[in-house]
Amino acid sequence: MATHKLLLLPGDGIGTEVMAEVKKVMSWLDAQGIASFAIEEDLVGGAAYDSCGLPISEEAMAKAFAADAILLGAVGGPKWANVPYEARPEAGLLRLRKDLQLFANLRPALCYPALADASSLKRELVEGLDLLIVRELTGGVYFGEPKTITDISDGQKRAVDTQVYESYEIERIARVAFELARTRRGKVVSTEKHNVMKTGVLWKQVVSEVHGSEYSDVTLEHQLADSCGMQLVRAPKQFDVIVTDNLFGDILSDVAAMLTGSLGMLPSASLGGVEEISGKRRALYEPVHGAAPDIAGKGLANPIAMVGSLAMALRYSFGQIEAADRVEAAIAGVLAAGYRTGDIYSEGMTRVGTAGMGDAIVAELGKAA
Ligand code: IPM
Ligand code: MN
Repeated sequence: MATHKLLLLPGDGIGTEVMAEVKKVMSWLDAQGIASFAIEEDLVGGAAYDSCGLPISEEAMAKAFAADAILLGAVGGPKWANVPYEARPEAGLLRLRKDLQLFANLRPALCYPALADASSLKRELVEGLDLLIVRELTGGVYFGEPKTITDISDGQKRAVDTQVYESYEIERIARVAFELARTRRGKVVSTEKHNVMKTGVLWKQVVSEVHGSEYSDVTLEHQLADSCGMQLVRAPKQFDVIVTDNLFGDILSDVAAMLTGSLGMLPSASLGGVEEISGKRRALYEPVHGAAPDIAGKGLANPIAMVGSLAMALRYSFGQIEAADRVEAAIAGVLAAGYRTGDIYSEGMTRVGTAGMGDAIVAELGKAA
């Protein structure tokens, strides 16, 4: 059995709580001889800032480069509202994404039948929903320069963010989307604002070219980002794969997450390119939800997105498809059995806390064994 080198970065708020639950799942997989993990742990976000004045230390970055995959909890919180901009908790996560060149962010939105009533949309609109947002993660307005606030005349200030994309960045994310569509229902919707933005014009053109020359077996549709947002809440089941830029992907993936009942449900994978010599692909897995300071430390957080992130690591980094299927089936199993954390609770269900949900998932795994 291969040993996977995993770096755990629990981060802030509920990040540490949900990480404790995914560790139980890892121990179980280890004990069963299904997967073995060599685990390192370090700080990121506000926790790292408190310990070393940086949102991620150089030692933690070195561990990140050495790992086969990274599991991250969440970063941020009001405690760090006034730290210098460069040292804010989010900067730790952004540095990991940028330095490891994790350009492809996969955010699946699955609506489990047992949860269809927890969605803010009607059951018939979301039941059986299975879409995948492929978000570009290392470019666009998140990283474009200049990014400044400057003093201008009369006490006024001017803030500038820069949205910038080069064709290679669009090509490689488009390929990821088309490849994934081939393993799913064969449809890609590409989303931008070509009616207003030059980056949108280039985005649409490059995605069309990649499609025409390499992927004409996949169906491609273009939607303006505002319209895509509208369609996501009108008729989400029309989507298979959505490919979009960093900022639109951030927004649309929160919308898609809510369709499934709760932000606490959705895992994500951030992948780099395949390295030539090692054949390895750098990867970071994290829940889509944030640090949720309002419920942090109370044992109320839903660990499902974190456990689902481990399943994605098994699938995309470790090639352990069967083990990934098993962890995902255990999640579906505990939901079908009626276990609910507060965010997805409805009447008649069994209310559990973070640890209760983690234990239920491990018990469910045991049943299937
Ligand atoms: C996400 C988060 C991050 C982002 C923040 C924490 C920087 O919202 O992963 O979606 O905006 O990308
Ligand atoms: Mn976000």
